Amino acid sequence: MVDKIRMKTLLVISGGAEAVPGIKRAKAMGLHVVVSDMNPAAPGFEFADDHLIASTYDLEQTVAVARDYHINRCKLDGVICMAADVPLTVAAVADALGLPGLSLEAAHLAADKLLMKQRFLRDGIAIPWFSAVQSLAQLQQIVNERGARLIIKPVDSRGARGVLLLNEDVDLGWAYEHARSQSPTSRVMVEQYLPGPQVSSETVMVDGIGYTSGFSDRNYEYLERFSPYVIENGGEQPSSLSNEHQQEIIALAEQAGRSMGIMNGIAKGDMVMTADGPKVIEIAARLSGGWFSSDQIPLATGVDLVGAAIQLALGEKPDIEVLLPKYHKGVAIRYFLPQPGVVKAIHYVDEYAAKPWVHRLGFFVEPGEQIGTMSDHTKRAGFVITIGNDRTEALARADEVINNIVIEMQ
Ligand SMILES: Nc1ncnc2c1ncn2[C@@H]1O[C@H](COP(=O)(O)OP(=O)(O)OP(=O)(O)O)[C@@H](O)[C@H]1O
Ligand SMILES: [Mg+2]
Repeated sequence: MVDKIRMKTLLVISGGAEAVPGIKRAKAMGLHVVVSDMNPAAPGFEFADDHLIASTYDLEQTVAVARDYHINRCKLDGVICMAADVPLTVAAVADALGLPGLSLEAAHLAADKLLMKQRFLRDGIAIPWFSAVQSLAQLQQIVNERGARLIIKPVDSRGARGVLLLNEDVDLGWAYEHARSQSPTSRVMVEQYLPGPQVSSETVMVDGIGYTSGFSDRNYEYLERFSPYVIENGGEQPSSLSNEHQQEIIALAEQAGRSMGIMNGIAKGDMVMTADGPKVIEIAARLSGGWFSSDQIPLATGVDLVGAAIQLALGEKPDIEVLLPKYHKGVAIRYFLPQPGVVKAIHYVDEYAAKPWVHRLGFFVEPGEQIGTMSDHTKRAGFVITIGNDRTEALARADEVINNIVIEMQ
């Protein structure tokens, strides 16, 4: 008699709304899916076979509940995070339970922007000039030597929290303290500001070879409006960059992923096409959030990036054919970035949600809630993802939604 084949079990770290498509994908792949999240009402739990209560940011707690599950309930075969920037939690679980996936070393580099840049410097990966900043006096000295056009940022935060583009009018003492306040370890760094088109890339690394299906132009039209905060107002595909420039960026993303030791996994890049060629701002060792990996890339290219990431997390190799873009359709995302205040009502949502070309329309605030100063990406009020035959059509549709939906303030 043939032994019954055991279904593989995947731990997904985060059950947030943006993780739901990935959790569903894992289920559709025939996996037994366990989701961990601190929130007992996490939307992803509904689609999982089992759930574990643990904060995605708490390594020890997540390792403890995962180990207990692995030993006492069902053997885990892989671990992945979805729509959560927690590479250290993923790597800690993989290391503790002997699972394939992200190494602790790669996760440490991904979680510390200074360590990452030092690694890139060592390996000759094109990056902006950078330095740790240990005091206001040191920041002042750097500005004196290099000019004010610098980015100051926390070494270990996310969502653009504490990221500031300095200029002569920005008070350096305030900027230093603001960036520092957003770092869990109170550490700050500065980088030369890289002028040029910004791109989000998302690369599947298989045995150290990169397959880049995610390639989106990022929109920073409001740098002045929200100065000194650096707020991204969306992105669109396919890219408007020349094929040659796209290939240069893709080659750099692959090198950078390898430099971090991401041989089998995801390398998600924040890249800039400068006049001196492409440069890396950072590489995340995880699937992107903001519906990019789960929705925008599959819509634009037909590539099942999340499915490939799940296979890699289980120690399997995805079929290379599956990683190659099948087409290039127009997909755009734009954000609602209202003035600070208390929301009274949001009008015309149903009308636009019903449009066949609106893929997703969502809000992070409800009537009665306060919208703060647009200081980082967590302050955005909502978003729309639209599709079109090409970039221009998708973009025009996204703008139409943003311009016609009214967020009425009290
Ligand atoms: N040196 C730089 N030159 C130009 N732009 C930069 C630079 N550093 C950061 N930025 C801009 O600020 C954004 C946020 O910076 P960074 O990625 O370092 O912070 P983060 O908190 O990880 O943000 P996110 O989670 O959005 O990636 C970048 O995606 C980029 O658009
Ligand atoms: Mg980043």
